[in-house]
Amino acid sequence: MTSSISTAGTGDTPGILTLDQINAAVTVQEVVAGFVPPPRFAHASFDTYRPDPGEPSQTAAVTQLRTYVADIAPEDKPRARFFGRWRRQSEPEGPKGMYLDGGYGVGKTHLLAASYHATSGLKAYLSFQELAYVIGAMGMAASVEAFKKYTLVCVDEFELDDVGNTMLAKTFITNVTQGDSHIITTSNTLPSDLGMGRFAAESFRREIGQIAAAFTVLRIEGVDYRHRNFQADASLQDLMTPEKLRAAFEAYHPANGAKLYATFADLTAHLARLHPISYQRLLDPLGGVFIEGLSPMEDQDIALRFVHLIDKLYDQGIHFAASATCELADIFKPEYRDKGYAKKYRRCLSRLGELLQEPG
Ligand SMILES: Nc1ncnc2c1ncn2[C@@H]1O[C@H](COP(=O)(O)OP(=O)(O)O)[C@@H](O)[C@H]1O
Ligand SMILES: [Mg+2]
Repeated sequence: MTSSISTAGTGDTPGILTLDQINAAVTVQEVVAGFVPPPRFAHASFDTYRPDPGEPSQTAAVTQLRTYVADIAPEDKPRARFFGRWRRQSEPEGPKGMYLDGGYGVGKTHLLAASYHATSGLKAYLSFQELAYVIGAMGMAASVEAFKKYTLVCVDEFELDDVGNTMLAKTFITNVTQGDSHIITTSNTLPSDLGMGRFAAESFRREIGQIAAAFTVLRIEGVDYRHRNFQADASLQDLMTPEKLRAAFEAYHPANGAKLYATFADLTAHLARLHPISYQRLLDPLGGVFIEGLSPMEDQDIALRFVHLIDKLYDQGIHFAASATCELADIFKPEYRDKGYAKKYRRCLSRLGELLQEPG
């Protein structure tokens, strides 16, 4: 089966394209211009966050973030600026940033986007991976200069995978928070545990300590919010047979954009040819993605690329349907699921479960 994409907007019959026909090339300027919360979180607010009554840390996190955001003095308020300066001179500098730590699905990203929306002034919202990409492309000095202009920088999914991004994160965070900028970040990992199981993080205790010192940690307890609405695990019933998948694809009319049908093998081969920063661009023209034959991934790189694609697809709110040759959970090999990236894979399975159960 060849990959195909059909474009919408031309009457009742959507046209057909292939994976290769989407130009996924993206410039740094375009990446920077896109620093806003993704569609899934475009309307996330403190008011729409429903704290679990059984988890006091959720109510506490909302209260603390509301206060934090309200205290960020907008440039255009002289009174706030005056008191901000007074406070800066008279109080010892504590941690400047906020670090939302917790399992997947407790609403960290929701609260991050809510904080973004509640802040006036210049603000940016991006993933840690996008931040690392921009620093790589623009250089550290230029990136620090650029981000120092923001009142609030929201960084989703902070994680340290290697020595390179540990050094980069340390330099960026310590420099940017020296000015007037504030940072809120989300992570599945406590600052002190960053990097564990992924690289020789013990040798970088000092740097990791410096990163941790920049943040007040808000630990958010609770279960995956999606489980309040969706079954705990997507099972085979949410996956389709290849025949059903094809029929669903034929019948699908995306509300926005085009639809794509690809085999899992074609998809993973295509992803390997692109820089992950381009995945969003690949998805931009699409309203629905149909993948035939999800199967156990033989290689950690393939698995991590797929995780990243699903993250983007989920954030963009794109319809997703799939068939598989195995149980959904088994697309990630047990030996990967239990190691340094375990949380990533579990988060991906949770998101896939939600996506597969969402009505088109
Ligand atoms: N307490 C909550 N109230 C309302 N919506 C929530 C809550 N927690 C999570 N959600 C929603 O559940 C989904 C998953 O939450 P998300 O913020 O992505 O979790 P996390 O970033 O912690 O993995 C999102 O659609 C989010 O808006
Ligand atoms: Mg999140």
